[in-house]
Amino acid sequence: VAQMVMQKAVQLAPDSFIPGGRPDPLIREQHGNVGKPLSRLDGPQKVRGAAPFAAEFALDRMLYASVAFSTVVRGRISRIDMAAAEAAPGVALVMTHLNAPRMAKVPLLMSKPKAAGGIDLPIMQDDRVHWSGQPIALVLAETQEQADHARSLLRFEYETEPAVTAFAAAKALGTETGQFMGQPLKMERGDTAKGLALAQYKVDRTYTTPRHSHNAIELHACTVAWDGDTLRVHDASQMVAHTAWSLAQVFGIEEGQVHVTSPFVGGGFGGKGLWWHQVLAAAAAKLTERPVRLTLSREGVHRVVGGRTCTEQRVAIGARADGTFDALVHTGTVVISRHNPMPEPFILPVMSAYASGSLKFDLEVAHIDMLANTFMRAPGEAVGTFALECAVDELAVEMGMDPIELRLKNEPEKDPVTGAPPSQRDTAKAFRDGAERFGWSKRGAPASRREGEWQIGMGVATACYPYHRMPGGAARMTLGQDGSVVVEIAAHEMGMGTMTAHTQVVADRLGLPLDKVDFRYGDSFQPGMVMAGGSQQTASIGFSIIAAQRELVTELLKLAGNSSPLAGLAADEVGGVNRGLGKLDDPDRHESYASILSRAQRDELVVEGSAPPPIEVQHWSMHSHGAMFCEVGVNGVTGEVRVQRFLGSFDCGRILNPKTAASQFRGGIIMGLGLALMEETQFDERLGRIMNPSLAEYHVPVHMDVPEIDVIWTDIPDPHAPMGARGIGEIGITGVGAAVANAIFNATGRRVRDLPITLDKLL
Ligand code: MOS
Repeated sequence: VAQMVMQKAVQLAPDSFIPGGRPDPLIREQHGNVGKPLSRLDGPQKVRGAAPFAAEFALDRMLYASVAFSTVVRGRISRIDMAAAEAAPGVALVMTHLNAPRMAKVPLLMSKPKAAGGIDLPIMQDDRVHWSGQPIALVLAETQEQADHARSLLRFEYETEPAVTAFAAAKALGTETGQFMGQPLKMERGDTAKGLALAQYKVDRTYTTPRHSHNAIELHACTVAWDGDTLRVHDASQMVAHTAWSLAQVFGIEEGQVHVTSPFVGGGFGGKGLWWHQVLAAAAAKLTERPVRLTLSREGVHRVVGGRTCTEQRVAIGARADGTFDALVHTGTVVISRHNPMPEPFILPVMSAYASGSLKFDLEVAHIDMLANTFMRAPGEAVGTFALECAVDELAVEMGMDPIELRLKNEPEKDPVTGAPPSQRDTAKAFRDGAERFGWSKRGAPASRREGEWQIGMGVATACYPYHRMPGGAARMTLGQDGSVVVEIAAHEMGMGTMTAHTQVVADRLGLPLDKVDFRYGDSFQPGMVMAGGSQQTASIGFSIIAAQRELVTELLKLAGNSSPLAGLAADEVGGVNRGLGKLDDPDRHESYASILSRAQRDELVVEGSAPPPIEVQHWSMHSHGAMFCEVGVNGVTGEVRVQRFLGSFDCGRILNPKTAASQFRGGIIMGLGLALMEETQFDERLGRIMNPSLAEYHVPVHMDVPEIDVIWTDIPDPHAPMGARGIGEIGITGVGAAVANAIFNATGRRVRDLPITLDKLL
């Protein structure tokens, strides 16, 4: 076995991932750990309550914070009555714009490489109010209860100004083309108007989706302390390095003077970046010269942390008699604040999903006065697939064609926008495997199956999410004389199994048992700029590990010297195997890490490696796809929808750990069920205010809403992604809304084009 493993453990330079270069050997072969359903290594700590979260670090002399939010949309704070609050028991500070320290603006996420901010407004620097719910005062006290009580005694008066708070009013004021990752979200290839006019079959529909608020289990929280000019932040973060750099900009200090750690995160989903609470906590800690813990209430998260904005989408498809698309159009409008340009890019799915004779997309943004929106699991795809995949289903009904066959008829051979070849794409296998396992052939005509009060139906939709790898990946490896390795990367564990999967990856790469690998992460002082976002953390960490291992091998060969069995070998000729390095085609030429280090009289060897820029995406069309199958029951009397069965069939490249991957897919699908049936931020367009900022009124799926969810995958490695894995964090939510809506149509013959599909829409 060792010999087989060795022959396959080819060492590769990072640049060998360039197009046409050799694929990563770990893509093809299992070395023992990758591909195994290893249980979460952090599981026991979590179950025992021994995993510390941001609001659980008790610091000496720590004060507790409570936040007051504006109740008007726009204007000035004309008067603050804080006498009662200041006199309340235990109060140490009431901070408002009148006494907050001077601070620079937070750099907005994606505006600079390490920017983490969700809103680029000045934070408590003037009397201006920009949205209903803006933090306008912070109370610090000896206990949380004292802080909350004192905050309830604050009184504010405002001079209000006119605000734009309605979608229609914002749209009437004019729109502009949305931008995402530096690209305008607008394109036309061919003549879609002509294609639609000449089409034998056509659909042209409008779909709407509501706002969504972030509701991770763990509330946004931080515990902060200053030591002179050095800021220590225990944060709940999916971007520790970005947060440290951004906080340094705000307080005018060096990046190295801010230390952000986030060992455990109770869910991120795009919302755990840098919002006002961390800045306010640090500012208040500065004023009081005491550590501060700030935990946003659930209402606070809804008021302060942006979510997904609402969309109004048009999808038009023109097809020939055989189903071939001649025209595909996806356009529409979103409404966003001026303080964060994140446009909920719902046109992303149409950029990769189908071949079409002509293609047009155009996302327009209108501006409104409210909390800035932000990234939320599969921003764009989650709601874009609802419109696109319902429209495809409507076309299939129109044509009397099976919706799977219609989709596969239009499976593209090259990228519909760039023309690049796919790095790996087998959507057809995902659909066919899924259809067989789900029993798709048993689906009947619309409204044809009834069991008592319940109408039963099946629906299907495409899931999709692109491969991303952001620049800045890096890792440090410390190899000990006992043959153990410590790997350090400023990455994140938000509950998805990152540290478990990458412990497996490191063990296989270095030829070590799992218990000799210590994967450390979640600390801004560690190497790398690895955001847990865009489903790219796995690829980013993977390439960082490859790069660091390359350095490690090079240094070990130097240390091994002339008296080693490895003497004279180049880095390309050896692999990590059997607790040491070995020649690929000659297993007898092997020396253990322990032996190399002890002969060199070294206690340890420390190396760092940096991942190259993500040039793979310039040469290949890199997208994951999936097929979502849903069976619903719709109660004919009450309109209640019950999802009875769900299957996700995915084509995401190599799956590193089937256990943690299945959980990721299921979690995404559950969030998709919420999107389909219940999640909605209720925004009062007259008051400009979110009216349901609590889990009592903002509904997410609970156990009773979640059926058995089956997940399968093709497990076909992507030769151009590190480890063959394209990332799986977000695709699970995509396509679910449409699969549910299409199943409801099949059950009832009723087409609902407005999310969420609550029972009133089916009565
Ligand atoms: Mo994800 S919305 O990129 O955390």
